[in-house]
Amino acid sequence: MRKQIAAANWKMNLNLNEANELLKGLIAENVELSSGQEAVFAVPFPYLLLAKDNLKGNKYFFIAAQNCYIKESGAFTGEVSAPMLASCGIEYVIIGHSERREYFNENNFTLSQKIDVCLKNKLKPIFCCGESLAIREGGTQNDYVETQLKESLLHLDATEIKGFVIAYEPIWAIGTGKTATAGQAQEMHAHIRHILTEKYGNDIAQSISILYGGSVKAANAKEIFGKPDVDGGLVGGASLNASEFAEIMRSLKK
Ligand code: PGA
Repeated sequence: MRKQIAAANWKMNLNLNEANELLKGLIAENVELSSGQEAVFAVPFPYLLLAKDNLKGNKYFFIAAQNCYIKESGAFTGEVSAPMLASCGIEYVIIGHSERREYFNENNFTLSQKIDVCLKNKLKPIFCCGESLAIREGGTQNDYVETQLKESLLHLDATEIKGFVIAYEPIWAIGTGKTATAGQAQEMHAHIRHILTEKYGNDIAQSISILYGGSVKAANAKEIFGKPDVDGGLVGGASLNASEFAEIMRSLKK
């Protein structure tokens, strides 16, 4: 069975004290995950080591960066590289979040380079894809997501993509309180898995975790995660509250 993952995306929120409080709160929740389940915490760069240190007692908890640069080192003021993250013991990196695509002009080609530099440094990318409201209303969301996958991901070979993590996040559902229905999520996840099956065969496609993101909260997590091709979620707003996120972790399929 592929991994079931609850990933917290703190985005650019919380000061140091607040981050500490949230980490303490998460530990106090005593969430018991089981083998095959993971929780991933994508925290802002200054808090990566703090989060790693605080959460190291739980073997199912992992730390993620929210981005990294395409180059490994050099004169790129303000950027953070994959080797730096790896040397800090960080396990995951979110790649291609729609906010990075929108505000920082990241395109499918840049993202393919970021995926490569992550893999080279043994970091696990969480590759985000998903369509805007205009595309959904035009009915071309399947083709749009397929192009995102083709241009950023499908150059990988079977060994590289085995066990990979993809997050489907329809942009119209992010931070809007408007969740895709569990049925809409399942439909797109099945489409993504179909694309992966055509390219890599069933075994590899079945090993890839596809997370849903967009207004996931404790109240809807169980229904969404219960769908056969939904392997957990990437959670923004609701991950900033310890008891809410704890409930979301507890909603993962066993
Ligand atoms: P949200 O964000 O849960 O606040 O909608 C999800 C995301 O952007 O990863």
